[in-house]
Amino acid sequence: MQIKHNISLKPYNTFGIDVLAKHFVSIESIDALKQVLSLENYPEIFILGGGSNMLLTKDVTALVLHLNLKGISIISEDENHVIAQASAGENWHEFVCWCLENDFGGLENLSLIPGNVGTAPIQNIGAYGTELKDSFVSCETLHIASRTIKTFTKADCSFDYRNSIFKQKEKGKYIICNVRFKLSKKNHTLHTSYGSISDELTKMEITKPSIQDISKAVIQIRQSKLPDPKKIGNSGSFFKNPVILKQAYNKLKENFQDIPGYPVSDTEIKVPAGWLIEKAGFKGKQFGNYGVHKKQALVLVNYGNAKGTDILKLSQLIQDTILRVFNITIEAEVNIL
Ligand code: EPU
Repeated sequence: MQIKHNISLKPYNTFGIDVLAKHFVSIESIDALKQVLSLENYPEIFILGGGSNMLLTKDVTALVLHLNLKGISIISEDENHVIAQASAGENWHEFVCWCLENDFGGLENLSLIPGNVGTAPIQNIGAYGTELKDSFVSCETLHIASRTIKTFTKADCSFDYRNSIFKQKEKGKYIICNVRFKLSKKNHTLHTSYGSISDELTKMEITKPSIQDISKAVIQIRQSKLPDPKKIGNSGSFFKNPVILKQAYNKLKENFQDIPGYPVSDTEIKVPAGWLIEKAGFKGKQFGNYGVHKKQALVLVNYGNAKGTDILKLSQLIQDTILRVFNITIEAEVNIL
């Protein structure tokens, strides 16, 4: 285990922001993790997974722990299901591909989401009609203060839309080391009702899709709408879709007849933030080397060498404008540091 100093974090965050880690260490085992947490010279730590859901606005003075825990295994199985475990440092999409190669169903709609397995439960990643929580069984964590292992079951995690206990009550207290999923071995439940998936499958001329076909459709949709972080720096959706009261929604509909909305309860409606941002005129807007993606207004992009503070200012301008125009507060989905 080697602690390095003054390391650029540019290759470690999908936004491609160039800030320094004053101290940086790559962690390859739980033992190494326990050891590093006991170092007295580094009282503050910063956990870095795939770096796909963060906007870095300044140098990081805390000790950066780059989680490189690896391994995928089958814990148990019966005729119909398998419990598979992946370590925190496994790339999320590579794990999804492993599931598809083995014909294990459940994660196919979550294909191509950037980031690592260990950070996926924190914000309960979701796309195209499914969320991580639908297949999640448990995760093994290390409690930072006591350096002891604690397992969180699905019920313990309080999963919600882009939310979990790890973003709320237990924020910053645990490091997720590995995650277990319950996956189907046959008679897979397919989720094809999300509009663009069924359209894509029709385009592919597939009437009886396999889980592999669904993954292909999701990949096509994502590649057509979302920028590839390897080419254009971004962090996926920068904002969460706001949930507003039905009354407020109906009022807005008087002025904006085409405003989309998806009921989430008898009294509340979820409105796509991408639509609000587009309507406010930001879609595709470029401000020097950063801006709003031209095909999906929910995604802010770094065209090269943008500063985290520039992107933060743009996000605040967007929030202020949405509040002024629609009287809706939109919250950042990414972690801002
Ligand atoms: N829309 C626009 N303009 C835009 C973008 C969206 O008008 O520029 C409207 C359209 O009405 C469209 C609707 O928004 O029908 C929904 O768009 P889309 O299906 O692309 O989904 P989203 O609500 O914009 C969410 C997730 C994405 C996820 C997709 C698909 C959030 C914050 N984002 O986006 O997640 O891939 O659904 O399930 O919930 C991510 O979290 O990084 C992410 C990309």
